[in-house]
Amino acid sequence: MWQLLAGSATLLQEGRAPYLVKICFLAAAGALAANVALTGLLLKTSMTNYPGGSAISTFHKLIPPTVSPPPHVHICNLAAQSGVTLFQHLNAPPYPDALFLWPQSTPPVRSWTYNRTENLTIGDLTSATQFTHLISEVPPLDPDITRDWNLMATIPAFNRVVFDKELVLHRPLEVPRKFFDVIRVEQRDQLWIYERR
Ligand SMILES: *[C@@H]1O[C@H](CO)[C@@H](O)[C@H](O)[C@H]1NC(C)=O
Ligand SMILES: *[C@@H]1O[C@H](CO)[C@@H](O)[C@H](O)[C@H]1NC(C)=O
Repeated sequence: MWQLLAGSATLLQEGRAPYLVKICFLAAAGALAANVALTGLLLKTSMTNYPGGSAISTFHKLIPPTVSPPPHVHICNLAAQSGVTLFQHLNAPPYPDALFLWPQSTPPVRSWTYNRTENLTIGDLTSATQFTHLISEVPPLDPDITRDWNLMATIPAFNRVVFDKELVLHRPLEVPRKFFDVIRVEQRDQLWIYERR
């Protein structure tokens, strides 16, 4: 396709392009633009598609590794399935040699606990007093949360791709300026980080 594009562009510049070559040029340029746009969209989608990964990294930014007592965090099913891997259990063994995974370069004296036990309700988590933090898909307005847990952070993630039909149909002149708004990735709050009150 590059050759097609370059070849037809040369002919176009020389001003002796037959009709068919012009069409080829437009088709090739269009395909290239569509490809770039789609790649960008997929990239944006996948970047926002790991709420669990994003939650655990936020958690590590909020709490210093040396905090005492060490956190015992519960990781809900959604978080476990969307990017919380063993590699992200930064403050618990096994400690990888790779320093890039380890910003402080030494592990904490007392390791944290990342608990992925399934099927626990907020009530179960509240009454099991070892849990100090939750990464949960239960929103902050839930009464079981409000009573016993403080919100530390909200994690938005990919919800859907929206096509702005209204913009294209009714305000087409604005499309070039708002090109990246025509098809956009919409996010929704999906995970919350809590600490015990
Ligand atoms: C994780 O939580 C469950 C339920 O409270 C508990 O039985 C289990 O011992 C915990 N795991 C660790 C490693 O502490
Ligand atoms: C949790 O619940 C799901 C659905 O009810 C079930 O498939 C799964 O086996 C349960 N996991 C555990 C560890 O009990």
